[in-house]
Amino acid sequence: MQIHYPQALVDRVRRATTGRKLTGEYVPGEGPVPAKLALIGEAPGRTEIATGHPFVGAAGKELDRNLALASLTRPEIFITSVVRARPYSRPKAKATAPVTALPNRTPTKKEVAAFAPLFDWELAAIGAPVLVVMGNTALQRLLGPTATIGTLHGQVLHQPVLEWRAGKYCPGNKSYWLVPMYHPAATLYARKLTPTVEADWRALGEWLKKHPLADT
Ligand code: URA
Repeated sequence: MQIHYPQALVDRVRRATTGRKLTGEYVPGEGPVPAKLALIGEAPGRTEIATGHPFVGAAGKELDRNLALASLTRPEIFITSVVRARPYSRPKAKATAPVTALPNRTPTKKEVAAFAPLFDWELAAIGAPVLVVMGNTALQRLLGPTATIGTLHGQVLHQPVLEWRAGKYCPGNKSYWLVPMYHPAATLYARKLTPTVEADWRALGEWLKKHPLADT
């Protein structure tokens, strides 16, 4: 199922992102609403923009392997990301290349903030008590700039997340179960992380068995 975002929030994001190196119609989050568990990524890549679905490219294939380790399936979870258009860069050598041929890049803090009101709305709308937060961009959006996947991966935290209010991030009132994880693309670039990532997803599966989501 796809979620329908309030047009006023979509318009606000469009105004805040005009002129930035972001491309594609926004890729909406996908999954049941309300959801018991949400996966939060960074930003869509080329395949996600082309298809309009989150995590369907190479990172998505890694993600599917990881989900299986935790005995999770896509239909039972909500999948989204903190930025909804594809951030790209234009190196000098590709001055005239079409946008579709330009490489992805990490979204800037301003771009993440531009999408923050939409993301906050979505998090409240899906009502998921458990958030699996994949990669530093998503983790720092939710917990602030000092949080890193390198130190927090695989842990289960219980705390409020940051919300965008009056031009800055402030802690929200609601506490979530937060599970920081390496972004699925991380193992595509650093295969040596694979055993750690697999252990983290298996541990999430064990935690979920002991904490049935209906009781969270
Ligand atoms: N990376 C993300 O963070 N989200 C996607 O949808 C695809 C890749």
